[in-house]
Amino acid sequence: MAGVACRVARAGILKTTVPGIITPGTAKFSTLREMTTARKAVAAALGVIGAGGASLVYALNQSVKASDLTLHTANFPWPHDGLFSSFDHASIRRGYEVYKNVCAACHSMKYIAFRNLIGVSHTEDEAKEEAKSVQIPDGPDEEGNMFERPGKLSDYFPNPYANDEAARSANNGALPPDLSYITAARHGGENYIFSLLTGYCDPPAGVSVREGLYYNPYFVGGAIGMAQALYNEVMEYGDGTPATASQMAKDVATFLKWASEPEHDDRKRMSIKVLMIFSLLFGISYYIKRHKWSVLKSRKFAYKPPQ
Ligand code: HEC
Repeated sequence: MAGVACRVARAGILKTTVPGIITPGTAKFSTLREMTTARKAVAAALGVIGAGGASLVYALNQSVKASDLTLHTANFPWPHDGLFSSFDHASIRRGYEVYKNVCAACHSMKYIAFRNLIGVSHTEDEAKEEAKSVQIPDGPDEEGNMFERPGKLSDYFPNPYANDEAARSANNGALPPDLSYITAARHGGENYIFSLLTGYCDPPAGVSVREGLYYNPYFVGGAIGMAQALYNEVMEYGDGTPATASQMAKDVATFLKWASEPEHDDRKRMSIKVLMIFSLLFGISYYIKRHKWSVLKSRKFAYKPPQ
């Protein structure tokens, strides 16, 4: 069917405007050339019916698809969604607080260092204070022993567990993933994080969840090893924002989005410059092209038969 449709289309494309003349292209490729108009009409109608039927079957199949038990997250209107919109940095700062007070008990962020916070959510002094508040394993010292010291700006966020095995055994066998790049690693990115954190509910009738697992329709399979972490007022924000569960989920999702894409703001700022410079260059090159081609484009060939 598609082949016939293509041939009809190609015959149309290759048709010359001069009646009776067949371009070499048409002669070589088109097998429809000899078809009568009526047969062409029938072939075209069959093509349309076939394609329409296939789309209908596909649409019906999609509408009753029940095999997909995972709820897809909605697209939330993030402040950083716009083509030229930057992150909400106050939200990143609050999100860091949520991570530090809630998520850091189980999740590492081993690719983010305290120095990364400078100029994003914290000043240099504040970031130093944040670093100092954690103990970082270091060593060995002169006697060969490992020791702990207060963190420095160059330290990465500490891991709550000594290794993956310790993390698993503390969480019923489920490994809390590192959150540094989590929004890039999950479909839906920050939307998914928000939905996951706020999506805990009772399992629907007929669904039972094993001991130690929790029901969350946004998690693939529905049963997640992480208990609901965010409840209203589970912590307090430094800036006085009411710490509702959805507020914290939004802030931590923004923070995690920043962690995955720290270049986000620069990239958008750069794109403004790029668009401005390139539109200027485009204008100039178009002008030059018209200028250079004007001689060729306005040429006229005339055949003067010999007298
Ligand atoms: C009590 C420990 C604990 C706390 C606190 C916790 N998590 Fe988790 N989290 C887990 C475990 C365990 C898993 C792995 C679940 C699984 O694979 O079934 C997980 C998985 C996740 C996942 C991955 C889900 C997926 O699609 O694979 C994300 C995202 C996540 N947590 C975000 C957070 C955020 C954000 C916070 C803080 C608000 C948080 N978690 C707090 C234990 C925790």
